[in-house]
Amino acid sequence: MPTTADVLIAGGGVIGTAIAWQAARKGLDVILVDPKAGDAASLVAAGMLAPASESLFGEQELLRLNLLAVRRFPRFAAELEDETGHGTGLRREGTLAVAYDPDDYAALARLTEFRRSAGLLADELDARACRTLEPFLAPDVRGGFLFAGDGSVDNRRYVAALGEAAHAAGVRTIRGRVAEIRDRHARLDDGTPVSAERIVIAAGCWSGGIKGLQVPVRPVKGQLLRLRHPHGVAPVLSHTIRALVRGTDVYLVPRADGELVVGATQEERGPDQTVTAGAVHELLHHAMDVLPVTSELVLAETCAGLRPGTPDNGPIVGHADTEGVILATGHYRNGILMSAVTADAVVALLTGRPPAPEWAPFSPERFARQP
Ligand code: GLY
Repeated sequence: MPTTADVLIAGGGVIGTAIAWQAARKGLDVILVDPKAGDAASLVAAGMLAPASESLFGEQELLRLNLLAVRRFPRFAAELEDETGHGTGLRREGTLAVAYDPDDYAALARLTEFRRSAGLLADELDARACRTLEPFLAPDVRGGFLFAGDGSVDNRRYVAALGEAAHAAGVRTIRGRVAEIRDRHARLDDGTPVSAERIVIAAGCWSGGIKGLQVPVRPVKGQLLRLRHPHGVAPVLSHTIRALVRGTDVYLVPRADGELVVGATQEERGPDQTVTAGAVHELLHHAMDVLPVTSELVLAETCAGLRPGTPDNGPIVGHADTEGVILATGHYRNGILMSAVTADAVVALLTGRPPAPEWAPFSPERFARQP
């Protein structure tokens, strides 16, 4: 007898689990299929909620969606904390974007001009003002801009709380990977059949490998470091720092418990998740340039994850051209940030309502239209 449900969700990372929780709260019977607990890109991530300081030239539609996401996130996290009794480590201090040398400053100023033209607020700070906010910054730092609307969350605590909330709401989890979809039936990699009225594909960079679907996602490797104070709880930063150091971008994300996440590389290497000496060296080198005290911290963890990249860097959320299938993938660098609004959008689709208008440019159709 095949297992059946109202909704089958392929992928138990932050996106799949957020959708599962919200769909189950609406009374839908949900099965979540995931190969292995703790394998998702969302557990490697830094947890930045940074639409302003991560926005890039030419990505205005993505910025509008990310701004919707950052407004929605605190209420979603508060509901999750209420339901589970677990904190998510949400911080709303903002991002301090800094530049290391005069060329970096010129590049950061140009990018900030673009961000301001898109309506974002950024306070310009000279070197002294930057160090007043963050006293451990290197004296060489030229100055920067404070993006007060950005924040961060402890992604591991957040994903763990989502899993607990989904389970408490009645979501059933099956270990495995969805290998094929045909006529509202999924076949898992061990041959198990699962049938569901609706199938949601939230398998990150693996979404492209499911037989019976065309999903243009690819893995984009990111290596990160987790540092800790040697004597426990003593954060060396109060804001997320995003630094441009001799043309290279590095970010440092503090947690209240003293952890400091340093990231990240962006590498087109297929599904390779090895940690390389060169990446660790480069991340530490740039982190120490802007925050010399980094050298005193303990290197607690090195890790590599696979972001689901798409041809235009935007997510893919909406009905697929295969009957009964909804795509919720391709969140690339913004999976944690977009988790709440993606859950809202997919639950809207599952219950016959339109998603928020900010999603219009990100439907699967835009790729179907291309040759
Ligand atoms: N959003 C940060 C990253 O993808 O590295």
